[in-house]
Parts: sequence; structure tokens; C-alpha cells
Amino acid sequence: MHPMLNIAVRAARNAGKILLRAGEDLSKVEVQQKGTNDLVTNIDKEAEAVIRDTILQSYPTHSIVGEELGEHKGKDADYQWIVDPIDGTTNFIKGIPHYAISIALKVKGRLDQAVIYDPIRGELFTASRGQGAQLNSKRLRVSKTTVLSGTVLATGFPFKNKHHMDAYTEAFKALFVHTADIRRAGSSALDMAYVAAGRIDGFFEIGLKPWTSAAGELMVKEAGGMIVDFAGGNNYNHSGNIICGSPKLTQAIIREIRPVLTEALLR
Ligand code: IPD
Ligand code: CA
Ligand code: CA
Repeated sequence: MHPMLNIAVRAARNAGKILLRAGEDLSKVEVQQKGTNDLVTNIDKEAEAVIRDTILQSYPTHSIVGEELGEHKGKDADYQWIVDPIDGTTNFIKGIPHYAISIALKVKGRLDQAVIYDPIRGELFTASRGQGAQLNSKRLRVSKTTVLSGTVLATGFPFKNKHHMDAYTEAFKALFVHTADIRRAGSSALDMAYVAAGRIDGFFEIGLKPWTSAAGELMVKEAGGMIVDFAGGNNYNHSGNIICGSPKLTQAIIREIRPVLTEALLR
């Protein structure tokens, strides 16, 4: 295992212990509101601090950006870590056992290492650029499905930005009629890890933040998948509008939703 991936795994496991311990008594968890339907807890912050400390202990000059603690500018801007301490905070707060820690490393602006760790199931998804993606050391491949018929897709609802609801619903309808079913499990990092694992055939969501999607992006690509924005381009890091799956299924998804999208989502 690449030494930097090893540190990412250590950081994720350290954070996982904090989440599991806190999950045993949710009444003690302090919840704050960041925005509309956007919640954060003291545990998100504690977990991110531990991840940050674990990374900086080994790589004191690296830079880190995290959802809750913001940016740490290290001397070395070539190495940037991107951290989501709990992807699925709403699930975590409600006691729904489905959330993950997501950690990615970019080297000179390029995704290099990724970890998505589900502490409840003990599932560790990892990827290294050019080396493939793994679940607990077993090699991952995206699903072989090429058409929407019979597929199970995953998505996230725009619960923090309900003004996107109409556009999103149109896209949902256009896809739903062709699929077997669509899941909304509440952790997009895990949705993307599941795409890499072939458990879910494809995924789409609007307005994802980089800490939610960075590790998932490398995971899907290293498992032979494709990731694009809603117009089929690569503006997804800017817009956060993401479609991913096997290359053929991704194209099939674009074909269905493109005609119903408003200008605002076509990027
Ligand atoms: C959220 C989850 C959710 C997705 C949202 C994300 P958070 O992350 O990934 O599945 O629908 O767009 O913001 O806030 O729990 O880290
Ligand atoms: Ca989060
Ligand atoms: Ca997130």
C-alpha cells in the first residue's frame, strides 16, 4: 500500500472509532445548524480534528481542506488532502447506521489516493491512482450493465437546496421510468463507493461538494467507471453535478436526462 494511502486509512480508522463511540449515546451529541437542513455536530468536528492530526503527524507540510474545520495551508501546496469527517451527518444524528468518512489526496491538483470508510460495517474502500480500487483488499470493478433497464441507481435529493427540486424531479422522472429502482441511502460517498463495487449501477446528484465526492471520484475511475457533469463534460468539480457508472451506462443516463434539464443544471 502507498505510504500516503496508509496514513489516510489510519486517519479514517481513528475517526471511525470516534463515530462508533458517539453513536452509542446520541443524546450526548451536540447538533448545530449551519444552513437550511444542513446540520453539524461536535462529533463531525472532533473526527475531522483527529484526521487532521493523523495526517499532519506524518506529513507536517501538507495542506488540508475539510468540510467543518476549513483550510489548513501547509508549506507544501502540492499535497492537498480533502476531508469529509462524516458523510451522512443526517443519518448519523438520526441513528441510521449508514455514513462514512471520506479522505482524498490530490498531488499537484490530481487525485492520487482515496479512502471511504464505513465504520459500522467495517468496510474500507481504497483507491490509488493507476493501481485500481479495493474493498478490504479485494479488487473492485463497476457493474457491466450498459443499458438502464434492470439497473439500480443511487441518488441524493437536493435537501439543502430545495430551489433545485423541480429540475431535479424532472431528471429523476426521466431516469426512474427506465430503471428497476433508485436508492437514496443518505451518504453520497458510500453511493460512489458502491458504484465502484458494482453494487449500484450508476449514481447522479446535483450540487455535491468536493469533500463529499473527491474520494468517490478516484474510486469510480479506478474501478473502470466514468464520471461526468450533466452535460457529459468534466465541470463536475465546479458545479457538483455528478453522474457516474460504467462508461456506457453513464452515456445512457446522460441521453435520458439531457433533454429535460434546465440551462442551470447543464454543466
Ligand atoms: C451529504 C450526503 C448526502 C448528499 C448531500 C451531502 P454530509 O453530505 O452525502 O447523501 O445528498 O448532498 O451534502 O452533509 O452528510 O457530509
Ligand atoms: Ca460531512
Ligand atoms: Ca458530505
